[in-house]
Amino acid sequence: MGDETVIIRSVLAMNEDTPAAGITRMPFGALPDGRDVDLYLLTNDNGMRASITGYGGIVTSLTAADRRGESADVVLGFDDLGAYLEGHPYFGAIIGRYGNRIANGTFELGRTTFTLAQNNNNNHLHGGAIGFDKALWSAQPQSVPEGPQLRLTHVSADGKEGYPGRLDLTVDYTLTHDNELRVDYRATTDDPTHVNLTNHSYFNLAGPGGGDILSHEVLINADHFTPVDEGLIPTGEIRSVEGTPMDFREPATIGARIDTDDEQLRFGSGYDHNFVLNRVDRELSLAARVIEPTTGRVMEVLTSEPGVQFYTANFLDGRLTGKGGTAYGRRCALCLETQHFPDSPNKPEFPTTVLRPGEVYESTTVYRFSAI
Ligand code: GLA
Repeated sequence: MGDETVIIRSVLAMNEDTPAAGITRMPFGALPDGRDVDLYLLTNDNGMRASITGYGGIVTSLTAADRRGESADVVLGFDDLGAYLEGHPYFGAIIGRYGNRIANGTFELGRTTFTLAQNNNNNHLHGGAIGFDKALWSAQPQSVPEGPQLRLTHVSADGKEGYPGRLDLTVDYTLTHDNELRVDYRATTDDPTHVNLTNHSYFNLAGPGGGDILSHEVLINADHFTPVDEGLIPTGEIRSVEGTPMDFREPATIGARIDTDDEQLRFGSGYDHNFVLNRVDRELSLAARVIEPTTGRVMEVLTSEPGVQFYTANFLDGRLTGKGGTAYGRRCALCLETQHFPDSPNKPEFPTTVLRPGEVYESTTVYRFSAI
C-alpha cells in the first residue's frame, strides 16, 4: 500500500469514536530555523493511538484501554511543539548517541581520547547538549502487516557532540494490532564509535492527572543491578538485588520502599538505576511489567537490551505544565529506559557499546498494553 493511501484512509478517522487503522500526518509547528515539524497519528485495529513527531522522535501521546475499555493517554508530554522547544527532561524522546551517563564526558577508543559535552555536572548525559532528542528526524509513514509504522531516519555527523564517526540511524515505531508500541533501532558507522539508544517515555498508567506513580505495581526481571556513586555513575559492581529495595523480582508497589533509608535510593533521590536483566531470549525478553491497580492497565516492556534504567521522575517538581494544563509533580511518572549499562565506554567489564564499520547496531523494545 502506498503512503498516500495510508494517509488518506486514516485522515477520515481522526475524530471518530471508532477510528480506522492507519497513519496520518498533520503540521506540528516549525523550528526556530524555519524547518517544519510534523506530527503523525498512528491508529491500530483496536483504536489504540500513538502520536509521534519527527522532532526528537518524541512519542507525544499513547493511549491504552483500562479494564472497562476506557482509553486514556498514558505518557507525559505537551500539547504543542513550542513547549517541547522550551526544554524538558527528555519526555518521550529518542535518546542518543549514548543513553544515560558517561563519566567525565570522556572515553578512549583505539588510541584516541574523545571529549564529549559535560551536560550533567561533570558527566555526559543522554547524548549531550544537542542529542537525538533535539534532532529533526526525517519521517516516512508506512504500513506493515503488524500495524501502522513510522520510519524515522537521521544522520549524526562525524564529531557531533564529540563522538567519532558518522552515524546513520533508522528508528521504526510500529503500533501493532496486538496493542504494542514496538521500537526497532538500527545504526551503522564509518568509524568506531559508541552507541546506546533508547526511548525516554514517562508513563503514568492511571492517565492524565493520575497523580504520583507510587501505587503502580512493578516487576523487574533482574537478579542484579549496577550500583552508582553520588554522581550516578556505576561503580562497576554488579550487585544482587536480594534483600535490597531494588528487588522487584516479585511485584511490589513503587511506594513500598522508595523512601527507605538506603544509600542507593539517596543517591538517586528515589529509583534511578540500571537493572541487569535476566535474559532468556537475546532477541526479546521480558524486562518489566507494570500494573496500575485502580484502572487495571498493564504495561509489559520486552527488549533485546541487557539493561533497563528504572527512573521514577524524582527530578520533576511541578514546575512543568504538560498536556491539558497538568502540572507534572515529583514522581508522577516512571521511565523504563532499555539500554546497555551506563558508562560502558569506561567499563570494559560491561557489555560493549562499541560499533565498528561493517557492523550493524540493532536493538528492539516493545511496550505491550493490556488490562486486568
Ligand atoms: C535518566 C537519568 C536520570 C535523569 C533522567 C532525565 O533517567 O538517569 O538521572 O537524567 O534521565 O531527567
